[in-house]
Amino acid sequence: MSNAIHAQNRWNASLMPNYGTPNLVLERGVGSTVWDVDGKEYIDLLAGIAVNIAGHAHPKIVEAVTRQMQTLGHTSNFAAHEQGLKLAERILEATGRSGKVFFCNSGTEANEAAIKLARLTGRTGLVALHGSFHGRTMGAISITGQPKKHDPFRPLLPDVQFVNPNDVEDLQRTITDTTSAFWLEPISGEGGVLPATQEYLNAAQQICDATGALFVVDEVQTGIARTGSMFAYQNSGISPDVLLLAKGLGGGIPIGAMVAFDEHADLLQPGLHGTTFGGNAVACAAANAVLDLVETEDLMTRAKHIGAEIERVLLPIEGVEMVRGQGAMQGVVLKDNVASIVEARGRELGVITNAPLPNVLRLVPPLVITDLELAKGLDLLARAIAESS
Ligand SMILES: Cc1ncc(COP(=O)(O)O)c(C=O)c1O
Repeated sequence: MSNAIHAQNRWNASLMPNYGTPNLVLERGVGSTVWDVDGKEYIDLLAGIAVNIAGHAHPKIVEAVTRQMQTLGHTSNFAAHEQGLKLAERILEATGRSGKVFFCNSGTEANEAAIKLARLTGRTGLVALHGSFHGRTMGAISITGQPKKHDPFRPLLPDVQFVNPNDVEDLQRTITDTTSAFWLEPISGEGGVLPATQEYLNAAQQICDATGALFVVDEVQTGIARTGSMFAYQNSGISPDVLLLAKGLGGGIPIGAMVAFDEHADLLQPGLHGTTFGGNAVACAAANAVLDLVETEDLMTRAKHIGAEIERVLLPIEGVEMVRGQGAMQGVVLKDNVASIVEARGRELGVITNAPLPNVLRLVPPLVITDLELAKGLDLLARAIAESS
């Protein structure tokens, strides 16, 4: 029996079946290459779903986390510490706006915090997109536009309405002066790497401004240099009231953040929200190391290069309909519903991607991926597509 099959059997016996049985059993990684427990090598074009911006085992992140753990580990929020202060200041500086930050541990928690913040406007209505994804807790699934995730868990939060992506008229009809917040992913990852159009973003901004609804931009997946800007909203000139971050922020260490701007920054008064681990010094140290790397390695420019390469190599492949996205967040839209087959064939050949929709592959590689790793990964994926079409 292979080591992987043995591990899968152990998984089935001791872990809940909510994820199904993982196809991969990984042992170690360096940069954008990982190895499984049987020694097989893979190019990682998924990065733990848009998390490992600095790849695996980046020495600067290892060093930052180790040094922080040796200096001051967990404190709870009864104490402030330099890493958390510095991280909040740097996030705000990257937005160039006045605001305040709340730290949590995941994307779901960032969304959950924003749902509570929206309630503090005194309004209850929430508007989000069909096909969107904002997390798995009861609040976050309530604003996730995927009925199959709702049905087993009803009743959900009341007063939530869903609109069609990139449909300005639907937005005009639905957002009113009883809407507390409109929720948007600049590029919907789970929705098939589907970017919001510039026209839609402009309309959303204008409608939120006119009705007083908060404009909540969920950048859990798009944030932190992935799309070629620090935050994807900066590619379009919109100005959210609330910005949500997680995934790439910690470079592999769990951390999430909600940023509320201007007059919304002080809505969460003492006692209204909190978390034991949120803003943990070790997680903040990892995030500060990620932000250092974004600067020193010019990862925003790198993200644009990665996106251009993905399109250049994969668009001409027979079986590919279109390549869409921004920077290092690209969806490869296939002509047929064979994305899961391509994903599996890619894995056999030694490249990791995933299929958020039956006809879409998602590529969100580490931003530090080398030209060699990228070329190898795309070559393997091109073969997998050609063989599955
Ligand atoms: C846009 C978006 N929001 C929220 C989440 C939930 O984040 P987490 O899985 O860290 O709770 C995700 C995760 O994929 C996401 O892509």
